[in-house]
Amino acid sequence: MSKLYIEGGYPLAGEVSVAGNKNAALPILAATLLTDDEIILKNLPDILDVRRMVRLLECIGKKTEYKSRNIIAISGAVSNNKLPEEHAGQLRASILLLAGLLLKTGEAFLFPPGGCVIGRRKVDSHFEMVEDFGGEVVSDHSGFHITLGEQKAASIFLKEVSVTATENVMILAAGIKGRSVIQNAACEPHVVDLAEFLVKLGAKIEGAGTNRIMIEGSHCLTGAEHSITPDPIEAGTFAIAAAATGGEMVIHNAMKEHFYSMGRMLRSMNVMFKFQDEKTLHLFPSKLEIKEKKLQVGLWPNFPTDLMSPAIVLATQAKGSILCHDWMFESRMFFVDKLNIMGADIIQADPHRVIVNGPTKLYGQHLTSPDIRAGIALVIAALAAQGNSVIDNIETVDRGYEEIENRLNHLGSKVRREEHHH
Ligand code: EPU
Repeated sequence: MSKLYIEGGYPLAGEVSVAGNKNAALPILAATLLTDDEIILKNLPDILDVRRMVRLLECIGKKTEYKSRNIIAISGAVSNNKLPEEHAGQLRASILLLAGLLLKTGEAFLFPPGGCVIGRRKVDSHFEMVEDFGGEVVSDHSGFHITLGEQKAASIFLKEVSVTATENVMILAAGIKGRSVIQNAACEPHVVDLAEFLVKLGAKIEGAGTNRIMIEGSHCLTGAEHSITPDPIEAGTFAIAAAATGGEMVIHNAMKEHFYSMGRMLRSMNVMFKFQDEKTLHLFPSKLEIKEKKLQVGLWPNFPTDLMSPAIVLATQAKGSILCHDWMFESRMFFVDKLNIMGADIIQADPHRVIVNGPTKLYGQHLTSPDIRAGIALVIAALAAQGNSVIDNIETVDRGYEEIENRLNHLGSKVRREEHHH
């Protein structure tokens, strides 16, 4: 386990550029199974989850070559449909390979997928949609065997607005001749990015970004070049880090179109900011104050669950009380006891709701990161705190944030990493 040593109390200030969207990169990498031709992906974030997905692609026969840190070339045929358990188990997004494996080999063997520990992350929506396409799912204690016989377009009504299930249906439908429709689809920017990628391969897609998506697939998709769009959650994370530490920051590749609900959250805590243009966000040092008493996550374009933990840290620095509610994940909120150890005043009402009373001074502590978003929230808390903190298990943060300590130090923080190899 690696750790970060953080000397707190310095405002994060200066300029930073948002990396490619993790949750777009993962389904787009999975969709490279659709063609044997060469795919070039640019602006790929250099993060642990992406490295793990690339390794899984190699395990099932794809050839991959990094041209630079953020550019990869992928080609070749799928030669094996068994994902190695030790690798697939580390990455919940390995479920995204389901569609490509079914199309190329007719079957897939999956293990209960790994990833975050923030709730019972169900895979039912994925299996239900395979059945709607005429496939079959058999499970036993060791995992799942999924088969798809005839490839026929289908009309899918998702039982939940699941992001990765929407993406799996899109990938599957893109490789099947005929017109498929998804209703109750997720609307995230990564769904739109995946659609744009699939269109470049030769699929026809309408409605991505709405809850009804039409896909006209094809058996002969071809190679393409695609640049991953910037990560909205990373943009929001840097904005919160600037506001919580009282720094002035310019964030490049922060897309204005992603900031309706995130911007509303910032304003609701009296954070001063303006967009210099469609993708440059300027944050000013602000006197933080709770203006709206409730912050609730929702399905995109509502406030994203992945930004809830950092927003809670921001609220500890604002004057007033706020109820924070995340109905999606059962265990998102448990990390607040760590913030309380640092000096925050947070009451956990139930697994989904906390009340944050602020402002409170935070003090450095020795902490362990439980998951990617709580992890980055603890990093922000440590940056805002007085004194020194140590944050263990920083690999959870490396899953989604590229070179985190270098980018923070570039903004004036004092962060040092200690690598621990076994
Ligand atoms: N859920 C509901 N009702 C809904 C929608 C979702 O109860 O209408 C529940 C699900 O049961 C599940 C949770 O909410 O427990 C998340 O559902 P979803 O299936 O949408 O999650 P996912 O597709 O597995 C993606 C992201 C997650 C992000 C969620 C929610 C990827 C690879 N992962 O996961 O990203 O938290 O959507 O937005 O896209 C992260 O980046 O930190 C991360 C965990």
